[in-house]
Amino acid sequence: MTPDMLPGHPHFSYRGDALFAEDVRLGELARMHGTPLFVYSKAAMLSALAAYQRGFDGRDAQICYAMKANSSLGVLQVFARAGCGFDIVSGGELARVLAAGGEAQKVIFSGVGKTRDEMRQALAAGIGCFNVESEAELNVLSDVASAMQLRAPVSIRVNPDVDPKTHPYISTGLKDNKFGVAHDDALRVYRHAASLEGLRVAGIDCHIGSQITDAAPYLDAMDRVLDLVTAIEAAGIALAHIDFGGGLGIDYNHDTPPAADALWRQLLAKLDARGHGGKKLMIEPGRSLVGNAGVCLTEVLYLKPGGQKNFCIIDAAMNDLPRPALYQAFHAIVPVTLPDQDAPAAVEARYDVVGPVCESGDWIGRDRALRVAAGNCLAVMSAGAYCMSMASNYNTRGRAAEVLVDGSQAHLIRRRETVQDQMRQELLVTG
Ligand code: LLP
Repeated sequence: MTPDMLPGHPHFSYRGDALFAEDVRLGELARMHGTPLFVYSKAAMLSALAAYQRGFDGRDAQICYAMKANSSLGVLQVFARAGCGFDIVSGGELARVLAAGGEAQKVIFSGVGKTRDEMRQALAAGIGCFNVESEAELNVLSDVASAMQLRAPVSIRVNPDVDPKTHPYISTGLKDNKFGVAHDDALRVYRHAASLEGLRVAGIDCHIGSQITDAAPYLDAMDRVLDLVTAIEAAGIALAHIDFGGGLGIDYNHDTPPAADALWRQLLAKLDARGHGGKKLMIEPGRSLVGNAGVCLTEVLYLKPGGQKNFCIIDAAMNDLPRPALYQAFHAIVPVTLPDQDAPAAVEARYDVVGPVCESGDWIGRDRALRVAAGNCLAVMSAGAYCMSMASNYNTRGRAAEVLVDGSQAHLIRRRETVQDQMRQELLVTG
């Protein structure tokens, strides 16, 4: 097996015939904890973070990990200890940040539908900024903050109307998306925000989409946002920070996104050229910090040869790995132990790799060349982002366990969910 069989995963490698995460043998973890099992590499997360930190060297910048990508406490703890802030989208996410040791002051609160309760919770905790997405939300936030005798720090999410050229479900910066305030309305909405007594205008933000593999949409969005910064400041409203959101893609299938430091070198050059280099910068990366830091280990349950297709039925499913079903997403699938090429049992065939869930959409990989037998363990790659955080209990399947690897140590960071866990909040009707 050549190293390029694990694209984008520098902390996962074969040693002999065994796949390792850092210095831990993945087959061993599957035996100890069962499957499906998510395994994350701490070094992979920290090296992804380091690329951003290099990019911002010498700048006043705050990296706020978009925790919707993976909100497990053990993962948040890694980023909190590394000094990150967090981009949250619910009161529940705020509670997780605080439970993991994150600082409220470094939290920004995004999302189109914040409730009054969530606003109160975030104000009481003292978060850094609310990224507001509509005029209606500005009014409610001002009322809620005034009632608490506070001024809520706000930034308005502007919609730069650029096409990030990604899957339509994960593109957010176009005119017809539900997100943000239209570019043409932004100045008026800023004037309104500045007039409300419960608010303090702190900055401006945008986020154009996810799994972006090209620098051009970022550069366009920056131009559009800086046009607004100039206009808003000319109207006498100071903006202390600019938040450029997240969205940088990862290598799932020979994708070639720019490296975070290279992208930011380009963006900072533009920022400087346009005279805004002195402003505090914020970003909200999610996938690019965790996506290629995680794999999902799964056991082959059955091989089902067919006339049209062969199926490889595994014990992970769309409830664990929802991205293929939702976005036709590609995740590489590799053996945890390389097959003995000389063994007659190990015949290569092409398979659709599917889970046990009762839906035709429950596939994890299509038409994959594999040399497998029932009982083998496979690793679904690039599973650190938007897998566990989007996992469900569909078909009353318990959510998987999670392990965080750090060098030669493996820490269990989530126990496997039991059926009792799943039924805990349910009630039978009595009488
Ligand atoms: N900031 C905001 C306001 C966002 O809406 C998002 C992602 C991020 C930051 C982080 O974006 P990232 O750096 O992770 O691309 N479930 C989909 C992705 C949905 C992204 C939603 N918003 C997937 O599995 O591809």
